[in-house]
Amino acid sequence: MSKVHLRSLSPHDRHPIEQLVVATRAFNAEEEAVALELVDEALAKGEGSGYYFRVAAFEGKVVGYTCYGPTPLTEGVYDLYWIAVDPELQGRGVGRELLRGAEADVRQRGGRMILIETAGKPSYAATRAFYERSDYREVARLPDYYAVGDDKVFYMRRVN
Ligand SMILES: CC(C)(COP(=O)(O)OP(=O)(O)OC[C@H]1O[C@@H](n2cnc3c(N)ncnc32)[C@H](O)[C@@H]1OP(=O)(O)O)[C@@H](O)C(=O)NCCC(=O)NCCS
Repeated sequence: MSKVHLRSLSPHDRHPIEQLVVATRAFNAEEEAVALELVDEALAKGEGSGYYFRVAAFEGKVVGYTCYGPTPLTEGVYDLYWIAVDPELQGRGVGRELLRGAEADVRQRGGRMILIETAGKPSYAATRAFYERSDYREVARLPDYYAVGDDKVFYMRRVN
């Protein structure tokens, strides 16, 4: 989608991000709280929090964001912790743009790869399709990790 622009996180983004996370209906209350904790940590401590954000804005409105950061005790591995796009604008390339923005930033910081952990349950099929179509490869799977029938799936992409 043209005219979406990626920028860093500001304190004004907290409320729109909260609304966006709830609007996706992809996360339970505990997950919503964790998503906001990451925002608060980043706003309080900046990059010292270990959480980096890219916010997608369209016509002045927050329409998506992603949160990622260096994986402790690794050389050049980054975890993608969160990605969400306003349901009204999903399927128009905003998620892809956010992923590519995070990848470019990781590359610039000397990172080698991005790792994503997600759920294997049927309701996450669209999310997995999004990662796969964005050149992430399934590299591992822990059967029944989150719950019986809900694997933990690891996706990876090399960025350098
Ligand atoms: C997952 C999510 C971030 C994708 O963002 P998006 O802006 O809708 O995705 P894009 O439009 O950039 O799509 C990128 C690619 O993924 C594919 N894709 C996106 N949604 C898809 C779906 N529901 N089913 C199949 N493929 C899908 C697109 O077809 C596109 O591939 P293509 O270019 O080869 O056609 C968004 O749907 C979302 O916020 N979902 C709810 C929250 C979530 O599940 N987050 C991840 C867990 S933390």
